[in-house]
Amino acid sequence: MDNRYKAISLFSSSGIGDIALKRCNIETIVANELLEDRCKLFRRNFPETHLIEGDINEKKSEIIQQTLLKLNGHKLDYALVTPPCQGMSKNGRGKLLAEINAGRRPKIDPRNLLIIPALEIIKELKPTTVIFENVSEMINTSIPFDGKILPIIEIIKNTLTEYEVEPKVIEFADYGIPQRRLRLITIATRSDLIKKHKMNYGSFFPPKTHSKNSNEGLMKWVTVRDVIGSLEKLDGKTKTNSFNDPLHKVPKLDEMKFWWVSNTPLNKSAFDNQCVSCGFNKNKLHSSNKNSFGVNKSSRDTPVYCKNCNALLPRPSIKKNGKIQIMTGFTSAYKRMDWDLPASAITRNFPYVCSDNKIHPEQNRSLSIREACLLHTISNEDFYFETCKGVDAKLTTIRDTLGESVPPLIIEILLKNLQSIASKNFDLNETLIQKQLIFT
Ligand SMILES: C[S@@+](CC[C@H](N)C(=O)[O-])C[C@H]1O[C@@H](n2cnc3c(N)ncnc32)[C@H](O)[C@@H]1O
Repeated sequence: MDNRYKAISLFSSSGIGDIALKRCNIETIVANELLEDRCKLFRRNFPETHLIEGDINEKKSEIIQQTLLKLNGHKLDYALVTPPCQGMSKNGRGKLLAEINAGRRPKIDPRNLLIIPALEIIKELKPTTVIFENVSEMINTSIPFDGKILPIIEIIKNTLTEYEVEPKVIEFADYGIPQRRLRLITIATRSDLIKKHKMNYGSFFPPKTHSKNSNEGLMKWVTVRDVIGSLEKLDGKTKTNSFNDPLHKVPKLDEMKFWWVSNTPLNKSAFDNQCVSCGFNKNKLHSSNKNSFGVNKSSRDTPVYCKNCNALLPRPSIKKNGKIQIMTGFTSAYKRMDWDLPASAITRNFPYVCSDNKIHPEQNRSLSIREACLLHTISNEDFYFETCKGVDAKLTTIRDTLGESVPPLIIEILLKNLQSIASKNFDLNETLIQKQLIFT
């Protein structure tokens, strides 16, 4: 048994969140993930970890037994718990109950129930501190538990009775992550020292370090330019990959897409492009409106022909029944990123120019995998997108696993803050300033 702290990781995916544990001298001793392709990447990157592949409901006992075996009487320091978020609803408990009473209860997404086996594992293994990460909607999501419908946060508090639990929705950009990502982080701890810190200072969370305009003495948000501004130039038509970096590559754009993209100005959407034939620039802009159910719908009557000369506009369009019409999409789609702001959240669609705010600020293309990694605070040395057999991961696996993962730097900051509280000799400010070096 070495002197590293010990952790388990549940819903580990390919282990991107676990990079943070490694950076904090924490060994992930046991991990669990459902999908085979993600497990292959995890094993390549964390060969020392006992990874249990399969459904957490079926593997619960094995996870507990293997952890106890590996701990061999030592305590478990941390658990990182990042259940899937696709099923999270904005429905509050009241609305859900009203819908149940009216006989209109929506089907409970089984993915929302995955927190229950995770809590059973935590109850059994008693890690000192647990970090849960999920979409901010989790704070309003209720599920059936013990014959009642309860908010997930209440279930965590009721189950982990020895723990002090603090949920908080945070904007990752406010902690120096070069990406706007609003997420719910819930920290639960049994450590008396950390509990006492909360009594004295009100929170387990470190204060924000960054803001949009460097107000109140905070640093300015880390921007797209800071992180990817100096990478080799690429182009969606003539140069789609770098010779030096296999991950710095982008999909080839067809003629039409390239035309729309290449006529899109900085920080604007191709849906608002103006006439390139006569230069007329007052063609109606794209818009959206809420329909009678309160759902946002993009406008269908946005013009695709110039009002002045009738030439086709370089706007995303499709041919339907012999007629060219505007494509379905909001003005955040086919939009160029702003150099001087953090990126919008990296999602599984980052390689596509139609995705939200993902056209390169200057070049005519989407983001490369390398750029998405850097904006997700994964440096070149952090992670191998290959299996133990040296087989490169498929693009679909890379984009899914990146889009669903937590940027390691935010978990690192939270862990270092907790380590600092527990050891009383750690200077978080020093660490944050050191980390800035990666990005500037
Ligand atoms: C939000 S992702 C986790 C991201 C991860 N922490 C990271 O940073 O890369 C949730 C993961 O839970 C996995 N998962 C979904 N259902 C599961 C189940 N029944 N048992 C175990 N894992 C499951 C998904 O395949 C997915 O990889």
